[in-house]
Amino acid sequence: MWNICSVLAVLCGVFEVVHGEFGPHSDLITSLPGLQSTLPFKQYSGYATVAAANGRNLFYWFVESQSSPSDDPLVLWLNGGPGCSSLGGLTSENGPFQPTRNGSLDMNEFSWNKAANVIYLESPSGVGFSYSNTKSDYDNPGDASTAKDVVTFLVEFLKAYDQFKGRDFFISGESYGGHYVPTTAKAIVEHNSANPGEAINLKGILIGNAWTVAGDDNLGVVQTWLGYNLVREASGNDVVKYCNLSNMLPILEERMGVRLGLDLLAEGEVASEAQCQAALAQVSRETGNIDPYDIYQLMCLEDAPRHRTAFLQKMADSDAPLRFHARNALRRMQLEANGPCQMEHSQAYLNMKTVQDAIHAKPTRWSECNMQINANYSRVDFLASMIPVHQYLLKSGIRTVVYSGDIDGIVPTHGTRNWIARLVATGAIAVTKPWRPWADSATQVGGFVTNYGAQFSFITVHGAGHMVPSTQPLRALDVLTRFLKNTI
Ligand SMILES: *[C@@H]1O[C@H](CO)[C@@H](O)[C@H](O)[C@H]1NC(C)=O
Ligand SMILES: *[C@@H]1O[C@H](CO)[C@@H](O)[C@H](O)[C@H]1NC(C)=O
Ligand SMILES: *[C@@H]1O[C@H](CO)[C@@H](O)[C@H](O)[C@H]1NC(C)=O
Repeated sequence: MWNICSVLAVLCGVFEVVHGEFGPHSDLITSLPGLQSTLPFKQYSGYATVAAANGRNLFYWFVESQSSPSDDPLVLWLNGGPGCSSLGGLTSENGPFQPTRNGSLDMNEFSWNKAANVIYLESPSGVGFSYSNTKSDYDNPGDASTAKDVVTFLVEFLKAYDQFKGRDFFISGESYGGHYVPTTAKAIVEHNSANPGEAINLKGILIGNAWTVAGDDNLGVVQTWLGYNLVREASGNDVVKYCNLSNMLPILEERMGVRLGLDLLAEGEVASEAQCQAALAQVSRETGNIDPYDIYQLMCLEDAPRHRTAFLQKMADSDAPLRFHARNALRRMQLEANGPCQMEHSQAYLNMKTVQDAIHAKPTRWSECNMQINANYSRVDFLASMIPVHQYLLKSGIRTVVYSGDIDGIVPTHGTRNWIARLVATGAIAVTKPWRPWADSATQVGGFVTNYGAQFSFITVHGAGHMVPSTQPLRALDVLTRFLKNTI
């Protein structure tokens, strides 16, 4: 066939380099703004086309293992939302470094690439740097289409990075990853049986604070408010009484709806809708401005009225008795890696032109979550129970570990216990080693663990919020390591 490149070989070669194909040659990151030292591992980032006709491209960032890249397993990490970017996870949770306020990168001692080769993928298209040239791709994202694109990505990835073909493969994620991870695993099992030549060696899944059964997870939120003394008992009970918890998004989103004056309940909703809204508004007033993702975390006040930080600064500089508290608060708010402002620092970093150039991203206004993708995401899928998918994966021999930060107020441990009890009631799993503490690598109680046969385990992470690796990085790496070695 006539090929213009055979005529203009030199030019085409140049074009390829500039334009950037998918794979290790074009996507190697050769330098990164803010790095203070040379990295002890290789990393790659760029776009993979998952639907050429639509021009649909997913952005990935792949960090090789710091231990033994040629032997360590391959792990995919997916943040949730839906609509949130896995680069948020990379830069503020379990990646090798975290941007500071001034744009430098702090190394993360507990990065997950200490134990595995980790792919961070932004999906579905529209999230982060991922995009489609066909705007209608953004109209109706849902679990099936999202999983299909991830499988297409993985097949292409294993062709381009062919030394990882056949490597033990695991999928991990958090929050709405409670849908993304099992539905992607199921799509892989189906893909493997239809295309044995392109099989992906999926061994297991690891899901954290996983949105799984709306009614169970939302009931868990109320149990958490009551258990941690955040609301009056009567107010919590009113939410259970007046709201249909099975027909609600995570309660936070409904509460934001209350604040914004939006009607987020479905059409034909129960007659008590107004009472439900009133009950949600009441608990919202009672909890106040705490961080529902991590109920003992401070809020980031960098965007707060300036007089607030100015006040703290003045107090910190004074000899007032509370100056130490003020200094501590300022430090935690503004400077510390993994503090409450980490996401703001990550966002600023990923929006620097020098950074976008270095990681081969198109010029983009990057944000942690694309709330339009979130709003357009299939409500039916959002509310669908993942119990049947878990049953399918158990039958298919896929190992599942469910972990849970135990001070999350969004998709809390209480809710996870509710839906695991439901899975037990189906007969799919049964307790073999009951609830007991586990010791982390600092020999403290890291949380509590229950085993349900060889294929299913539940492990809590004590003192962790919704984003477990960001508040308990050591324990999160312990969980990953044990999950990979099958020693939970
Ligand atoms: C940036 O912040 C980090 C961590 O707070 C600090 O170690 C570093 O010295 C700062 N760099 C500059 C150029 O200010
Ligand atoms: C969401 O869907 C509507 C149509 O249902 C579309 O007009 C809009 O562009 C979509 N949102 C985004 C972010 O594309
Ligand atoms: C609550 O919502 C679920 C899911 O939409 C629905 O099946 C159920 O009938 C609703 N319950 C009541 C009492 O309206």
